[in-house]
Amino acid sequence: LMSRNPIVAIDGPAGAGKSTVTRAFAKKLGLLYLDTGAMYRAVTWLIIKKGIDLKDDEGLSQSLKELNLEFKVSQLEEQNVFLNGKNITKEIRSPEITEKVPLVASKSIVRKILTIQQKALGKDGGLVAEGRDIGTTVFPDAELKVFLTASPKERAKRRSIDLKNKGFTVPNLLDLEKQIKERDQIDSSRKIAPLLKSEEAIELVTDGMSIEEVIDSLVKMFRLEIPEE
Ligand code: DC
Repeated sequence: LMSRNPIVAIDGPAGAGKSTVTRAFAKKLGLLYLDTGAMYRAVTWLIIKKGIDLKDDEGLSQSLKELNLEFKVSQLEEQNVFLNGKNITKEIRSPEITEKVPLVASKSIVRKILTIQQKALGKDGGLVAEGRDIGTTVFPDAELKVFLTASPKERAKRRSIDLKNKGFTVPNLLDLEKQIKERDQIDSSRKIAPLLKSEEAIELVTDGMSIEEVIDSLVKMFRLEIPEE
C-alpha cells in the first residue's frame, strides 16, 4: 500500500512560539521543516530594498518575476533563505520587516506566487509547514492540522525575550502587545487566505506551557493520526 509521507500543518498568530516548537517537532519526527513566514519576509525584504510602492501592482508583479527565492529546507538547521543568490536569513528577522510584512502578505499576487512554491516544496510530503493559511489553503489535505496560539499578553512576553536574544531594541510589553494585536487584526481580516482556525484543526493554547510540553503535545497528536508501524 503506497501512501505519501505525512504533512503536518501548523497555523497560528505571531509570537505563539510556532517556529521554535515546529522546528524541534520536525527534527524529532525526521520531517522537513517549512517556514512559510520566512517566504513572506523575503518578499518584503525585496520590496523595501527596491523601494517598490505597494500600491503599484505593476511594479510589484514585475519585481516578483525577477525574484529568485531559494529555500534550503532541511531537518537539521534553520531554513536558509536566499534571494537571487544572497543569503538573507538573518536580515528578514528585523523589526522593520516584521512591521511591514502583513501589508505585503495581504497582496493577492504575492500570496499566489508563494503558495505555488509552497505546494511544490511539499509535493512529496514528509514535512511540517508552519504559517497562517497552511491547513486552510496550502495543504488542505494535511494529515494533521494544528492551530497553535497563546494570549496576546503571553505572546508579547515571548516576543520581548526573542528580540532581546537577537540583539534588537525591545519596546515595552504594553507596546509589544499592542503591535501583536494590530498584526493579528491585519492577518485575520485580509480578504485572501486570512488567519483562521480550520474546522479540522486541533487548537492548542500554549499559555503557561513550556516548549518541551508543547512539543510533546504535538508528538502525541501526530502519533494519534499516524501510528508508528
Ligand atoms: O510567522 P512570521 O511572523 O514569520 O510571519 C510573517 C508574516 O507573514 C506575518 O505577518 C503573517 C504572514 N504570513 C502569511 O500571511 N501567511 C503565511 N503562510 C505565513 C506568514
